[in-house]
Amino acid sequence: MKQNSQTFTIQGLNGAKKLSGVINIRGAKNAALKAMAAAVLFDGPVELRNIPHNADIETMSLILRKLGAQVIWGKKHGNVLVIDPTTIDSTDIDPELAAGMRASVVLTGPMLARFGKVSFPAPGGCVIGARPINLFIEGYKKMGATIELKNGLYHISAPKGGLKGTSIFFNIISVGGTETLMMAAALGKGKTFLENCAMEPEIVNVAEWLISCGAKISGVGTPMIVITGTNSKALKPKKAYTAIPDRIEAGSYLLLGALCAKDLTIKDCTPRHLYSLISLLESSGVPIIAKGSTVEIKNNIKPNSSFKAFNVQTHEYPGFPTDLQSQIVAFLSQVSGESKVLETIFEGRFKYVEELEKLGAGVTVLNPREIEIKGPASLKQLPDDEELQAHDIRAGFAVVMAALVGKGEFVVNNVHLIDRGYEDLEVRLRDLGADVKRR
Ligand code: EPU
Repeated sequence: MKQNSQTFTIQGLNGAKKLSGVINIRGAKNAALKAMAAAVLFDGPVELRNIPHNADIETMSLILRKLGAQVIWGKKHGNVLVIDPTTIDSTDIDPELAAGMRASVVLTGPMLARFGKVSFPAPGGCVIGARPINLFIEGYKKMGATIELKNGLYHISAPKGGLKGTSIFFNIISVGGTETLMMAAALGKGKTFLENCAMEPEIVNVAEWLISCGAKISGVGTPMIVITGTNSKALKPKKAYTAIPDRIEAGSYLLLGALCAKDLTIKDCTPRHLYSLISLLESSGVPIIAKGSTVEIKNNIKPNSSFKAFNVQTHEYPGFPTDLQSQIVAFLSQVSGESKVLETIFEGRFKYVEELEKLGAGVTVLNPREIEIKGPASLKQLPDDEELQAHDIRAGFAVVMAALVGKGEFVVNNVHLIDRGYEDLEVRLRDLGADVKRR
């Protein structure tokens, strides 16, 4: 993966469906990152499989290494990561690295449970909303921890004898909150009840691995998780962890394929995790066949204007994922009719709309949570001095989609943000026949 170059130059297909081929879906970034954090709970090395090569995984590796852990990519298999936490000799999470990646806050749970203390930076603003950490702080307090905020750093200490079992009700359903407190409680004392939990498949994936290694966790994938604390000696890395397929990567390519591919086969994915998207696309008229671990689009006879508009509301799993919100807006800009998209998870996840507007898409922000789309719009060539920006991982993918649909040559900046969540995007698009260059 090349991360030193940050710009894509993309030749638009001017609405034609020309891409064709197969995409193999990588392991889920948002599960793999949490399994890396969970590695800290163990008293010996653990093996993590199907780990994607993207920039967030590299950042998490660096954070763990700075704490003293050994993090090594397996030689034989390019997607195996071995983490040995036994050499950890610091409990201070690197503030600069942590500030660049929200997922680092998940590491605080296992660190606190395993070493009795942890320090990390208070989060600042973020391009997709404020993203507070009150649920983590309140949870740790209920588990008996003491918390001090000094010079922008939180210093958290577990009580003598370890974090204690408690009951926690999440006022807001939180993926990171559920995972972090679940992992913290796994090495706590007694029983912890977590209520109103997130049910994302990535949480289930990591929890099932921990259970297979001796953790006492029940109810994952439901709103109530019960954890009976054990100690790190009782956690044995009996089984390697294997990341589930990345449903957001699969969904992103599915939406791109719906607009730009005459035929596309998305392999090594879990269609069940994508029903919210597949059912919307089917209702719109996109010809999709989901079978086993494959989703196929055979699309050449259907122009995008033959697809029908629909409304979308983002929702916690199993609802429509916020991480596909910008990509589905790019899709809706090309189909016939009016749609509204309501973003219920994050306020302020519409920055990318200005990029679509530059291209002439009929997208209007009605308020910080809602946008209206009038389609179809042909996406026009930009003046020579005008370029497109990736605002975050997913918005970056949406802008690449729009450039591929558009007419002429487009430059997309800040590609390092796309690299955080998509492995070798330009290489994979070229394999499908797109003209995308990184410079
Ligand atoms: N929230 C609070 N207080 C907290 C924690 C969260 O108010 O202490 C709020 C958030 O501000 C948000 C809502 O709760 O409004 C849900 O956020 P959640 O905690 O579920 O998000 P997250 O764990 O920070 C993960 C993914 C995101 C994905 C969201 C929602 C990882 C590393 N990140 O974030 O993925 O959008 O869940 O599904 O797992 C991405 O991959 O591009 C990405 C942003």
